[in-house]
Amino acid sequence: MKGIVLAGGSGTRLFPLTLATSKQLLAIYDKPLVYYPLSVLMLADIRDIMIISSPGSLPALTDLFGDGSHLGLNLTYAAQPEPRGIAEAYLIGADHIGNDDSALILGDNLFHGHGFARLLRETRQDIGGCTLFGYPVSDPERYGIGEVDDAGNLVSLEEKPAAPRSDNAITGLYFYDSDVVEIARDLTPSDRGELEITDVNRVYLKNGRARLVRLGRGFTWLDAGTHESMLAASTYVQVLGKRQGVRVACLEEIALRMGFIDAEACHELGARMKNSDYGQYVMDMARRLT
Ligand code: DAU
Repeated sequence: MKGIVLAGGSGTRLFPLTLATSKQLLAIYDKPLVYYPLSVLMLADIRDIMIISSPGSLPALTDLFGDGSHLGLNLTYAAQPEPRGIAEAYLIGADHIGNDDSALILGDNLFHGHGFARLLRETRQDIGGCTLFGYPVSDPERYGIGEVDDAGNLVSLEEKPAAPRSDNAITGLYFYDSDVVEIARDLTPSDRGELEITDVNRVYLKNGRARLVRLGRGFTWLDAGTHESMLAASTYVQVLGKRQGVRVACLEEIALRMGFIDAEACHELGARMKNSDYGQYVMDMARRLT
């Protein structure tokens, strides 16, 4: 299975923060924003991952992660010159996907919750065309929305509806079978001039091949697209770390737990950052999980 992190866009909603740096490198508490979506793909046991970003942001992302081999990953990079829609990821990433199943995650989405890793691994065993994740929100007009019937089946999908039929937001994590590239190729741009991921999902829905997994109260889903939501995400990560001693989206720890790297390699990664609490945590995990 292949993965894509779509981390493009111009970050204009975050100006002046993003005047001289890219959104994905901004801090969510103790680590860059892009760590969070990448951690989700790793937890889904996906190691072959393409990071798509704006041409201006790619050098910094490449500096940050390189080829990913230190984390046991195979990372490649591609440019999206303009934010022409989330579904464009499947045109840019067509060769990377080939005939495989794939998972796409938006570069500003943060997921956390008990049993999430297991849920991801179960999902990849049974994608059923496409699998979407729903999450109840108080402001549904801001999102893609999925309406569900009494039996829990998905019946409609709308992008940012003025009068939402439900509060069930479609999160920025999508699993697809190999048809997705052809479906993306056939799309016509929306009124916003974008290739909408909701239109891709609608094709699967029309063919009776879209599945919805509803993330319940025990889960946290945040999209860090505004100053306020970045602060909320930082606070969430800080509180969990302080209270429970866990670090959300610590890539080195996940790589170790998933068996992508061994304890010695993990310890070495921590030692390179030993002056930070994060580095100390990585070294500690390497000692504990030996
Ligand atoms: O976060 C979940 C929502 O993401 C879904 O509920 C919506 O259905 C989906 O359309 C999307 O809505 P947003 O309003 O959040 O989309 P936005 O244009 O803000 O893009 C989300 C992220 O994806 C953002 O970090 C920038 C990146 N992006 C977006 C587009 C359109 C790209 O990298 N390239 C693009 O062309």
